[in-house]
Amino acid sequence: MSDKVIIFDTTLRDGEQSPGASMTKDEKVRIARQLERLKVDVIEAGFAASSEGDFQAISAVAAAVKDSIVCSLARANDKDITRAADALKAANAKRIHAFLATSPLHMAVKLRMSPEEVLEQAKRSIRFARNLAEDVEFSAEDGYRSEMDFLCRVVEGVINEGATTINIPDTVGYATPELYGDFIKTLRTRVPNSDKAVWSVHCHNDLGMAVANSLAGVKIGGARQIECTINGLGERAGNTALEEIVMALRTRKDYFDMVCGIDASQIVPASKLVSQITGFVVQPNKAVVGANAFAHTSGIHQDGILKNRDTYEIMRAEDVGWATNKIVLGKLSGRNAFKQRLQELGIAIEAEADLNEAFVRFKSLADQKSEIFDEDIIAIMSDSAAAEAGEFYKFISLSQHSETGERPKSKVTFRVGDKEASSEAEGNGPVDASLNAIEEIVKSGAEQLLYSVNAITSGTQSQGEVTVRLAKGGRIVNGVGTDPDIIAASAKAYLSALNKLHDPSQAKLNAQMTP
Ligand code: KIV
Ligand code: ZN
Repeated sequence: MSDKVIIFDTTLRDGEQSPGASMTKDEKVRIARQLERLKVDVIEAGFAASSEGDFQAISAVAAAVKDSIVCSLARANDKDITRAADALKAANAKRIHAFLATSPLHMAVKLRMSPEEVLEQAKRSIRFARNLAEDVEFSAEDGYRSEMDFLCRVVEGVINEGATTINIPDTVGYATPELYGDFIKTLRTRVPNSDKAVWSVHCHNDLGMAVANSLAGVKIGGARQIECTINGLGERAGNTALEEIVMALRTRKDYFDMVCGIDASQIVPASKLVSQITGFVVQPNKAVVGANAFAHTSGIHQDGILKNRDTYEIMRAEDVGWATNKIVLGKLSGRNAFKQRLQELGIAIEAEADLNEAFVRFKSLADQKSEIFDEDIIAIMSDSAAAEAGEFYKFISLSQHSETGERPKSKVTFRVGDKEASSEAEGNGPVDASLNAIEEIVKSGAEQLLYSVNAITSGTQSQGEVTVRLAKGGRIVNGVGTDPDIIAASAKAYLSALNKLHDPSQAKLNAQMTP
């Protein structure tokens, strides 16, 4: 029997620490539901003590998720750990994840604590956490740059106090595969009670080796949990990409001889959802989830594929959830066909009213665009979910004039609460003019951190998906808008970001601002 590797997803915590990737409570719940469909074993939903917003988001995820363990990060102190336990109250299965740095540099400079103090605090925190949860993980932050003898003492101490998982992060992405694998193996061999806990790896991608290091931690080191994120989202150069880990374990089962419980067909929907919510576009040549990951353009390759797919394909696009980009629906498609396609895409829709609302959006898109692809349906459903979260500002219409040599002008009409407002403005380009027109009325004064446009399918018939990232008062929010007209998509994205700034229930400090 092959050993099982536990997949611990930290998109909602470590992933959120990417500058600009902060998510609202509702967005975290939407992603958590998709992670549950993906069948990840553990969902790290956030860092409860970092902000009231994150506490609320973790509580909401804990209440929504039934099949995965829900986890909160905590610094190794009573206050953080209590906060984590409180946020996880509603969870079916919960985990508290306490961390404390163990490298000489972090202990001296960041913590200003002696190694003996760190050892005592680590043990005390796990003892405390075990009174609040059965399932307790300890992470030795900057573990890979820690001294082996000291780290062995810390790990032995926290296992004695009841830690059920031991995580050895390569916090700064400094490791190389063999060295990291050997490091974990040495620890497991030297720590007397090492078999009493599950060993876990958590690798950052600063040198582009996060996935290779994690796999070596499992293969060479004997770890049985991998911490990872969708699309490799995470601090700086990111974290270990879940999709690459899962497909490496599956495709090279002959070598790894290990299994995980992930439903791979949910990988691409998860990737798209995370990309759409965070505004972090997936590079086309990204393994597994990049738009070109399964594209064969050279004549020789196409010829080979037509004769036998195995000539140039080691995985099947459909196995990881790529739709074959077929036209699925059109103007004449009815409500039942729409509902069935949603089911085939794994999109759960509970209330009849939500289905009706989504169907209205579908019909309106089908009036503008004759061919509706799966990607369009996913975008419609994301818009519907955003609308459900409450829209104070709602796009109505836009007219715009631009001519070479003249400054573009735009008039935007939108709802502000229950009133309709209209305003005109000029700008450097048609998008700038439209956003200026909105700003004339809203006067948010928010700083624009990002504006990006993406075609969600191929060809000029495609809908444009625009992401706008705004910062104000210590908060960073992303707004997404889709429309076949990219100027209208831009106005929608801007209004969607303004909605998040406006709605206090979506309040959340940027994860970077953790005290
Ligand atoms: O990279 C890291 O060390 C972490 C820990 C808090 C687990 O994210
Ligand atoms: Zn990390």
